[in-house]
Amino acid sequence: MPLDEKKPFSLSNMQLFLRYPGLVFGVFKDGKTGGMRALFNLVRRMLSQTDLVEIENCLHASLYRRDLICPNSLRSLNGSANLWSIIIYYLCRITKPEIVVETGVLSGRSTTLVLQALRDNNRGFLYSIDIGIPNRSYKTNAGIHADKYEKEELAWLVPEELKKKWQLLIGNSREVLPTLLSRLQKLDLFLHDSEHTYETMTFEFNLAWGYLSKGGYLIADDINWNEAWNDFIRKVGEYGRVNTIMETLGIVQKW
Ligand SMILES: C[S@@+](CC[C@H](N)C(=O)[O-])C[C@H]1O[C@@H](n2cnc3c(N)ncnc32)[C@H](O)[C@@H]1O
Repeated sequence: MPLDEKKPFSLSNMQLFLRYPGLVFGVFKDGKTGGMRALFNLVRRMLSQTDLVEIENCLHASLYRRDLICPNSLRSLNGSANLWSIIIYYLCRITKPEIVVETGVLSGRSTTLVLQALRDNNRGFLYSIDIGIPNRSYKTNAGIHADKYEKEELAWLVPEELKKKWQLLIGNSREVLPTLLSRLQKLDLFLHDSEHTYETMTFEFNLAWGYLSKGGYLIADDINWNEAWNDFIRKVGEYGRVNTIMETLGIVQKW
C-alpha cells in the first residue's frame, strides 16, 4: 500500500516518521510527488557521502510501500525495482550525464531506468553492451553463475518510446567496450553489471575510468563477488571520491 493512502499511522509508518520525518512529511503534504522529492533528496545526500546504511534501509522501507520510488512511467517495473535501480535512476537525474555506457542488460531494467532518467533530463544518450547469450554460465569465486533471462528476448522491458536515445551493442564487453570507448573518447557515467569475474570487472573498470570525464561516476553492482572493486579503488582512489560502498554496490566519482 502506498504510504500516502490509508493507514498513515501504522506502527511502521510511525517508525519511519521518527527516523525520516522529511520523507514522511513530504508524502503527507504532497502525496507521492512529495515522497519522490524527499527520496530524491535522500539519494542526493547519499551521493555526497552520508550515513549509507540508514539510507539504504530507508529506500528499502519505501520500496515495500510500492509506487513511492519509481515515477509513474516506471510502474511496469514494480516488484523488480531495487536499490540498484533506484540509485541508477536518481544518479542520472542528479548528475545529468551526456554519455552513459552500461555493460549487462538482461531484461533491460537498468537500461529502462537510465533511459527514463535521460528522457526526464531531456539530454543524454545510452550505449548498452550485452553478450546476448541466454543462460550463459561462467565461473566465479562463489561457484558457477548463470545469467538467466526472464524472457527469451534481451532487453524486453525497454519501452519502444525510450529507444531513440539508445544503442544496444551485442558482444563480449572485453571486445566491444574498447572499440566503443575509443570511438566516443569520453563518457560521463559508466555502469558495470555484466560478468562479475575479477578479470572482466578489472578490465571494464580500468578502461572506463580512463575515458571517464572529470566529475563523472563509475558504478558497479555485485562488487562483493571478488576483489576487483577493492583493488581498483586502491589504485585510483586518490583520483576519485569513493562515495558509496555498500556490501554489493560501489560508486566512485572521478575528480
Ligand atoms: C546481472 S545481468 C544484468 C542486469 C541488468 N543490468 C539489470 O539491471 O537488470 C548480467 C548481464 O550481463 C551479460 N553479460 C555477461 N557476461 C558478459 C560479458 N562478458 N560481456 C557483456 N555482457 C555480459 C549477460 O548476458 C546478462 O544479460
